[in-house]
Amino acid sequence: MDIWFHPSRELDSLVKKVSKDVGFDDSFDPLVRPADPRFGDFQVNGVLPYAKSHRENPRKLAEALASSIRNSPHFDGKLVAISVAGAGFINFALTPSFLNAWLARYKGEEELRQAASKFYSGLKVVIDYPSPNTAKQMHVGHLRPMVIGEAVKRLLGFCGADILCDNHIGDWGTNFGILIYGMKISGYMPDPNDDGALEKLEQTYKRGSALVKEDPQAADAARAELVKLQSGDPENISLWNLINNVSAASFDRMYRRMNLTIDMTLGESFYRDKVDRIYSELSETGIAEESQGALVVFLREHDRFKSQPFIIRKKDGASNYASTDLATLLYRVENFGAQEIVYVTDGRQQDHFQQLFLTAKKWFDAKGYKLPRLRHVWFGTILGEDGKAIKTKSGEPVRLKSLLDEAVQRARSVVKAKNPDMDEAEADKIAETVGVASVKYADLSQNRTGDYVFSWDKLLAFDGNTAPYLLYAVARIRSIFRRAGIAPDEDFASSASVLEDDKEIALARKLVALPAAFEQALSDLRPHFLCTYLYELAGSFSAFYNADKVILDDKPVMARRLMLCARVLSVLETGLRLLGIEPLEKM
Ligand code: ARG
Repeated sequence: MDIWFHPSRELDSLVKKVSKDVGFDDSFDPLVRPADPRFGDFQVNGVLPYAKSHRENPRKLAEALASSIRNSPHFDGKLVAISVAGAGFINFALTPSFLNAWLARYKGEEELRQAASKFYSGLKVVIDYPSPNTAKQMHVGHLRPMVIGEAVKRLLGFCGADILCDNHIGDWGTNFGILIYGMKISGYMPDPNDDGALEKLEQTYKRGSALVKEDPQAADAARAELVKLQSGDPENISLWNLINNVSAASFDRMYRRMNLTIDMTLGESFYRDKVDRIYSELSETGIAEESQGALVVFLREHDRFKSQPFIIRKKDGASNYASTDLATLLYRVENFGAQEIVYVTDGRQQDHFQQLFLTAKKWFDAKGYKLPRLRHVWFGTILGEDGKAIKTKSGEPVRLKSLLDEAVQRARSVVKAKNPDMDEAEADKIAETVGVASVKYADLSQNRTGDYVFSWDKLLAFDGNTAPYLLYAVARIRSIFRRAGIAPDEDFASSASVLEDDKEIALARKLVALPAAFEQALSDLRPHFLCTYLYELAGSFSAFYNADKVILDDKPVMARRLMLCARVLSVLETGLRLLGIEPLEKM
């Protein structure tokens, strides 16, 4: 028996297979669930309902099934103990030998990656994040799509998806008329190398927009600039290019600081010559209809969307968010071969994506195109300590850059307090990592669909489910190896004795639960499951390390304990990287 990567899943399929040999029919579902830890690790719960519906004695069926499993060539009784309990439950207990063998087999990031790649096995996935709108500085509202998008991307890639991040920036829309009008009357020409250019563009927009509101002539002038831009006027196109270049330069600085791995950026403007096909295909298939001069989709089978139209072409003939998203979807299928598309945005866009997905399904069915799996990974709002959406004192959105700068500055005091003798350059480097990581982790550790309160004290705390706690756990294990003069990737398994005491076994069981944590995080793309797992793992490690000496004279015992340390280290480091956090050697 090769060592199962994901024991509950693989036991499930083993039981299913063996059940056929003893005459169970296809209706049998083993229902493998975590067991009461006193009796084992997993329990087959499916015999009872099966016996009931077939009017058989459940206990007898369970015993027959258990004995066939024991005799199966895919099963090794030294590694998993089977017992039948109660009215007809089958318990599986992973033995200490199983735990040793599992740890020997899944020794580092590469082995874990290979095994985990079965989850998605090469499926082509396009993920759409952080997708900001250009001509605006990044504020705290941009944090979640960046952080959650990146973590989901890394997790999917690790679990075998062939993944591509396509940053769908908002670079086309009515606001450009006002902005260009504002630039022309103020004479402001931004310089992409100027850090403050985007801020000045925002002010230029505000001035333009104030004028447009009070003066009808200004409103006409701004509209005229928009029409000129849309019809390809060279001057306005070059101003628009400049605006986008300034935005991109500023976004890139933020992406680098946040460690994002964006593969391509095809903004809304890229699709402006691709929307005609959308209008004609949706009209010709009868999915879209004219309504008050606009082209719209009513989803008649839907409670709300039967009367809330999905507008795909505006009254004035212009494309919009819906038309570009339909064109984008098709492009990703036709050009990237997307089998799954994941969109990471704010929860306020739920209606948009539901309407998009339902419309796409009808359209693809009607045309015989292959519809990819579509998922909207949405998230809630970041709240200030007053429980309202986080804002500056003057009511402006908090700039992302100042938020991160403050995190780094606060992390620096924390790091300096812990290591007063650390030299300044090293303290700066560590503070940057810890500060940014703390902000990311505080976000990722929350269930994404909820709102959460942003609290400096909580996110920088060294105890609790925080980045500093996990980074510190990693640095502590690194220092155990450093002080012992041993490398964590040495071969401990071959000289290790079998795990014995409670703390070792509890820790090993937690390690073996990693694939289940991946599965949980993947099922609805919720990274907080991975955070919770890492936090619990670090806790089991502390309990083990406080109770058991690692460096000792008994070599086989030392080897098995070092093996545990090394595996915890690599799982914690792998897990943090999947969350977009680069672990530190020292802290
Ligand atoms: N630019 C949009 C916004 O800032 C998000 C775009 C998300 N992606 C998409 N394909 N609609 O709200």
